[in-house]
Amino acid sequence: MKKDLLTLRDLNADDCEALFMRSFELKQRRAVGIPDRTLQGKTLGLIFDKPSTRTRVSFEAAMVQLGGTSLFLNTKDTQLIRNEPIADTARVLSRYLDGLVVRTYSQDLLMDLASAASIPIINGLTDLYHPCQVLSDLMTILEKRGRLEGLKIVWVGDGNNVAHSWLNAAAILGLNLVLACPEGYQPDEAILAAAVKDTKGKIVVLSDPDEAVRDADVIYTDVWASMGHESEHERRKKVFKPYQANQRLLAMAKQDVMVMHCLPAHRGEEIAADVLEGAHSVVWDQAENKLHMHKAILERLMSDH
Ligand code: CP
Ligand code: NVA
Repeated sequence: MKKDLLTLRDLNADDCEALFMRSFELKQRRAVGIPDRTLQGKTLGLIFDKPSTRTRVSFEAAMVQLGGTSLFLNTKDTQLIRNEPIADTARVLSRYLDGLVVRTYSQDLLMDLASAASIPIINGLTDLYHPCQVLSDLMTILEKRGRLEGLKIVWVGDGNNVAHSWLNAAAILGLNLVLACPEGYQPDEAILAAAVKDTKGKIVVLSDPDEAVRDADVIYTDVWASMGHESEHERRKKVFKPYQANQRLLAMAKQDVMVMHCLPAHRGEEIAADVLEGAHSVVWDQAENKLHMHKAILERLMSDH
């Protein structure tokens, strides 16, 4: 049966472990110039109806580097914009392609597409989740720290799609995850409750960012207004001001705290410029790791072996 990656709940801890191992191996092999051709002859489609730099380019580069090819489609250039049903689109694309990365608004639409498709469907970000992002973020933490156990990972800011994928990660991997979000911007209650129920770790949601980051090993932040919420940007800037990842906040965390951001970053909003560019920031390695993790994901879902 074909496998999809629609949320991190499609994976268990062993699946994640295999992805981490393979992404490290692929990174190492690329570093020493060993070519991999595990997806030779395969074609990946990407249908995006939100902008993207990293996710699009890392998936497309991953395909080429693994011997396959990719095809990028902006939704507005397809018949979807003229209301061709998603299920019809899914069935037709399944006849041409070997896998599809989708970036869209609605998680329900993604799930409908996946049900009608006979090829693997990968969530490249929806309003609700960003699973591939958090897999490469976890890879980055493992790369820098050698472990996930015992680390205090603190999410500061909006309880958004990336935060939801962190909750799912905490559920399947038993992380120690603290989220500091303003009232009214906390994560989805059902996603939070399911994660709290299933985790062998610890999940706490607070509204005080200072309390949350105490002794943090990782501080993670993201934009205050995600794609689709641009009209709320000015209002959100006021509400989220105390949640900026700046030197004052970092001083309350562990001395060797790692600062992460999925990018794109807004300097002077969710993150101070000197923190983004500072010694604690791992954001560029974090962005690079999307390439290696996406290769591991594509192999897992699309390879014949
Ligand atoms: N982090 C991330 O998903 O970036 P893009 O929006 O550029 O793909
Ligand atoms: N939460 C952000 C992530 C961007 C990669 C958004 O959805 O816009």
